[in-house]
Amino acid sequence: MIDDLLALARPEITRLIPYSSARREHAAQGIYLNANENPYPKAIPHLHRYPQPQPTRLRERFATLYRVDQDQILMTRGSDEGIDLWLRSFCRAGNDAIMVCPPTYDMYALSAAIQHAAVLSVPLIPDTFALDIDKMIATWQPTCKLIFLCSPNNPTGNVFPWQDIERLCIAFSNKAIVIVDEAYIEFASQKSCSALLNKYDNIAVLRTLSKAFGMAGARCGVVLAHKKLIALLEKVISPYPLASPVIEIVLHELEPDTLHKIQNQVASLKAARDELSTYLSTLPFVEKVWPSDANFILLKVNDAKGLVAHCAAQHIVIRDRSHMHSLNQCVRISLGLPEENQQLKLALESYQA
Ligand SMILES: Cc1ncc(COP(=O)(O)O)c(C=O)c1O
Repeated sequence: MIDDLLALARPEITRLIPYSSARREHAAQGIYLNANENPYPKAIPHLHRYPQPQPTRLRERFATLYRVDQDQILMTRGSDEGIDLWLRSFCRAGNDAIMVCPPTYDMYALSAAIQHAAVLSVPLIPDTFALDIDKMIATWQPTCKLIFLCSPNNPTGNVFPWQDIERLCIAFSNKAIVIVDEAYIEFASQKSCSALLNKYDNIAVLRTLSKAFGMAGARCGVVLAHKKLIALLEKVISPYPLASPVIEIVLHELEPDTLHKIQNQVASLKAARDELSTYLSTLPFVEKVWPSDANFILLKVNDAKGLVAHCAAQHIVIRDRSHMHSLNQCVRISLGLPEENQQLKLALESYQA
């Protein structure tokens, strides 16, 4: 089964002998005379040395955090790099394809365009934003190697039930990899699909520290998948994806004390989301507020452009999503600090559409 999935990869990647970086060849302590670094130390410890390609301490921390084995993990420069790695490893330019379910995160289609891979688009069912599973199965072609799902979905905010994701894993077993982007899962009522990694070889999960963990500036994402798929992506990733200051910062931020703080922040953001959703639905110019399992809210208004411009004039930036599939006159609002949410409410109150 896993061999069938590996056979979906670009043959030249399968055959590739990865670049053997100095730090990968010799990770042990000693006198380093093998990487052409400047030997004089800086004020920041170890800055003059290349970092570990996949830092062991961080890998251990993520394995505990995400409840997976260490060899099921690849750390990347944000999830965006993870998306790009899948595309570059599996899609032959001009031949292969991915499947996406719009409206969804734009980077799947953009990374496909950069790789010159085709995009099979199977829109979510309008209004409920559920997956159209029968249509996905009917649309699939043998050149389609990767199925991208975003759960909770950006920008609609809904999660896809496990049962749907499992149906897709079964339908596409040996045929395609189902990649579930869980950038916002910490805000959801449903648990991470990473628990399905030991059940299906063809599921992969993307996690990021950019959202709930509050480290968008650190650029740290994690791919979770079967160890042989991880080994394949590791051939393609750049030799040192994480900078050493980032590794230290992330390790610090994943200490139990900090994790506890993050849990509290997530709880506050979820409460604020529910409160703001209720408030938004009372406004006369709001036509619909969709329930959200993320840290943002999607709403339909009578004039999206007008509302975004009005908020901008009050120095509040919200996002017009009207150009996206089936989202005419829709805006997406991310949750801010309590005082920022309060300012948003004042701005909305002064809006006459
Ligand atoms: C669904 C989704 N996936 C991935 C990303 C990018 O994550 P990262 O900052 O880890 O590259 C975003 C950012 O907005 C996102 O919304």
